[in-house]
Amino acid sequence: MDHVGFTQMKDGTAEDYAFLTEHEVEYTKGTASRLLNALVSLDESLSGYQITRLGHSLQSATRAERDRADTDWIVSALLHDIGDIFAPYNHDEYAATILRPFVREQCAWVVEKHGDFQMIYYGHHVGGNPDKRDAYAGHMYFDDCATFCERWDQASFDPDYDTLPLAHFAPRVEEVFARPPWDAEVLRPGVRVPLVAG
Ligand SMILES: [Fe+2]
Ligand SMILES: [Fe+2]
Repeated sequence: MDHVGFTQMKDGTAEDYAFLTEHEVEYTKGTASRLLNALVSLDESLSGYQITRLGHSLQSATRAERDRADTDWIVSALLHDIGDIFAPYNHDEYAATILRPFVREQCAWVVEKHGDFQMIYYGHHVGGNPDKRDAYAGHMYFDDCATFCERWDQASFDPDYDTLPLAHFAPRVEEVFARPPWDAEVLRPGVRVPLVAG
């Protein structure tokens, strides 16, 4: 069998679907390398900043690593703007959706909300609401998102910063996306791991 027999899903057999599941599992093994390639294409996206979008992603991850944050944080920092490619109006949610099955809930939440939290730095210049983050006041990950934005996101547009290359982070990306999806021991709902090691 090299393809299914049906032309409409409703006509598929158990054998067809077992065959497809096998294919899907094989395909998911390439997620990390597809994401690494997508990050490279961020280099070509419209910037206007002093560094490329890939440079910004790498700089965020480098700062996370130098804060001695853990792998979930570093990979989340690296991928936090990957949604820029296909979802410029909700890039934060897009990135969070990619990360959510494979990282701590805390990190996925922070990536999902970082766009709103970032508004504090420039909302007043663009007619946006700088206090958009106030909608999450009291949330258990509020302070983590504030720290993420302050230390790793808004600070990472410096062309003179000693930023580590993508190859440096590739093994961590491979590690995260090789995890079983939705693993309770990875997601650890409610657990807060500090961004900056004490
Ligand atoms: Fe962003
Ligand atoms: Fe960013």
